[in-house]
Amino acid sequence: MQQRRTDLPGMAAERMHKLPPYLFGEINAARDRLLAEGHDVIDLGMGSPTDPPPETAVAELKKCLDKPGIHRYSAAKGIPALKEAVARFYDRTHGVKLDPVTETLATVGSKEGISHMWISLLNPGDVVLMPVPAFPPHLYAPMLAGGTSVGIPFPRKTEDLLDKVEELCRTLVPRPKVLVLCFPHNPTGRTVDLPFYEKAVAMAKQYGFYILSDIAYGLTVFEGYRAPSVLQVPGGIDVAVEFFTMSKPWSMAGWRVGYGVGNRDLLYLLASIKGYYDYSLFAAIQQAAAYTLDHCDEDHVAQAAIYEKRLNIMVPALKRMGFELEKPRGGMFVWADLPKKARSTPSIEFAFRMMEEIKVVAMPGGGFGSAGEGAFRLAIVEPAERIKEAMDRMEDWFARL
Ligand SMILES: Cc1ncc(COP(=O)(O)O)c(C=O)c1O
Repeated sequence: MQQRRTDLPGMAAERMHKLPPYLFGEINAARDRLLAEGHDVIDLGMGSPTDPPPETAVAELKKCLDKPGIHRYSAAKGIPALKEAVARFYDRTHGVKLDPVTETLATVGSKEGISHMWISLLNPGDVVLMPVPAFPPHLYAPMLAGGTSVGIPFPRKTEDLLDKVEELCRTLVPRPKVLVLCFPHNPTGRTVDLPFYEKAVAMAKQYGFYILSDIAYGLTVFEGYRAPSVLQVPGGIDVAVEFFTMSKPWSMAGWRVGYGVGNRDLLYLLASIKGYYDYSLFAAIQQAAAYTLDHCDEDHVAQAAIYEKRLNIMVPALKRMGFELEKPRGGMFVWADLPKKARSTPSIEFAFRMMEEIKVVAMPGGGFGSAGEGAFRLAIVEPAERIKEAMDRMEDWFARL
């Protein structure tokens, strides 16, 4: 494993020590070494889409490159065409009416918006609650901004999470300032229905916290499930900001287009911070993203069907191997406990062994915080026949473990 570069004496800022070793970086470095050695590696590690974006979106981007003035600095909060398309999209998809000017904000991928939100919101020691295991930026970005992340291990039934939130609101000092929700959830694939958000919003109003909802996988859904938005709850916009991304539904991860929507005061704070960090995205990308939001519904539905086909191979195969899991209703991942024979192995060791021995890359659960130890995550980002091959290799390997 690599040396922790943040241990360089006298150089790294104190806050760097709040970051754990970046397990995913170590996994990716080992994967790249195997690839360079010519091994046939099946990469189910990062949730990085490998399918192409909609052809019409790419054609639109090419067209936009020749527009007069397009290469200049863009509007800091996003160009009106994108903000208006976001508002139309929310209306069409969730029945939520947004003021494009004050209730939408373009971000450089949703991760950028989510991470910078904390700088505008948190004082030292302010508490941010979230279910764990969690997407690492959810866990660690609040800490980099001086806040304290408090993880709530997922109860068996996701609905019961809010009972725990309420308990912490009654007992924690200082009282939690923000609750982070992310459904469909990365890494566990858990999903919720609208009553969950109704309860969360009521609780936010009662105890005076805000909700940051990340619905990166909101359109990556299966079996007729529709992922709700917290903004569908009447009055949700009083307390919540929601982040969405073009990266997953349209496989446009490299474009770096995301946006925040919802409470205008929270978005005003984020926009104020962003004013010091960036000039928003390249305007041509924003225009092509606006086109995509308006015209490419069929493409995200087709993309979700591709993911579901892969899940339909992976989930039954894992069940055959003895894993106890349900097919998720959304997201790009399958989350599973380590096989019984390997339960006491640290998840990073398990992931390294699997990669070295059968050349299948998985993410170790421990990379999603200590609550993820004892588990691993598989991303459904390779074509169906490669997923099948990965399952065959795993089945054979587990039999020999
Ligand atoms: C839960 C979650 N939110 C946000 C992101 C980042 O998306 P973006 O590409 O928009 O920054 C990811 C990417 O893996 C994710 O899993």
